[in-house]
Amino acid sequence: MILSFEEILKKVENEVSALHLNESPISLYTPIQYILSLGGKRIRPALTLMACNIFSEDIEPAIKPALGIEVFHNFTLLHDDLMDQADLRRNQQTVHKKWGANTAILSGDAMLIVAYRLIGETSGKFLKPVLDLFTTTALEICAGQQHDMEFESRSDVEEEEYIEMIRLKTAVLLACSLKTGALVGGASEKDAEILYAYGIHIGLAFQLMDDLLDVYGDMASFGKKIGGDILCNKKTFLLIHAFKAASEDQKKELNDWIHKQDYILEEKIRAFRKIYTDLCIEKITEKKIQYFYELANEYLDQLSVSPERLRVLKSISQLLMNRKS
Ligand code: IPE
Ligand code: IPE
Ligand code: MG
Ligand code: MG
Ligand code: MG
Repeated sequence: MILSFEEILKKVENEVSALHLNESPISLYTPIQYILSLGGKRIRPALTLMACNIFSEDIEPAIKPALGIEVFHNFTLLHDDLMDQADLRRNQQTVHKKWGANTAILSGDAMLIVAYRLIGETSGKFLKPVLDLFTTTALEICAGQQHDMEFESRSDVEEEEYIEMIRLKTAVLLACSLKTGALVGGASEKDAEILYAYGIHIGLAFQLMDDLLDVYGDMASFGKKIGGDILCNKKTFLLIHAFKAASEDQKKELNDWIHKQDYILEEKIRAFRKIYTDLCIEKITEKKIQYFYELANEYLDQLSVSPERLRVLKSISQLLMNRKS
């Protein structure tokens, strides 16, 4: 039986609640429970369970690794919000805002270890490949995050470098989620690789959408402050393309803002948004999202399973492309 997305999400939610991470000292564990209880889309563990379900009626073997991936993802958010100086996540204060930087670092570290403990509970012959994939992925994400930070102070970031950076910081985890599910579901190596490639392309589209929502999203549904990337001088797809299309005056204006030390935050965000809008950057970004989305779907058609088994995953990728949160 193929589970519906609602059933998958319910399963994920129940399992996350059952993690019982309320050990001592509470000052270490409360922030962990806090971030995990704020929800989020739970897209990664859902992908793991869905991928498993494509190949197997029994999704039980996918649960521990799915939880490990979700805890790991939430760990990256604690550190990412500290690095990006973000105050708001899932419509609530970020952990470093609420409890300080040291807590975000140490509770984050503990989450990474809990994530490994969960991955380590993957059963039998799947443990080694799942653990290897997870470890490779986790290191790639660190590399991606490092590029992301270094790009803040560079003005010559090319689109290809940006795509490689988001492949590392975001896409590989979605791909890992899918491949992990495929592996424990008993997929062939070929099908597992196809799902991985699908995940990379969906992941690239997903991060492009995140960049777009950071400028044009609605704060209440996005759950993060709008304009965060602009304030950090992140070299997003939007900014790279704005520089490409800008007039000399517009380039100067962008550069002036980038180098300004004292300014009113809202004014910088407004100025960037106006330039993006004047240059139709939203359309260019949407086109690129569509491009990766279509590439992703071509991979799904190569899988050696009946189209019926792919229905749920296909509808979710569609949903992800239209996300507001
Ligand atoms: C946020 O991930 C970090 C990115 C890779 C953009 P999500 O957008 O999946 O965050 P949650 O888990 O749903 O809050
Ligand atoms: C997310 O990048 C990548 C990781 C968390 C590893 P962002 O910095 O764009 O994510 P958000 O926008 O803060 O969720
Ligand atoms: Mg961030
Ligand atoms: Mg970041
Ligand atoms: Mg972002």
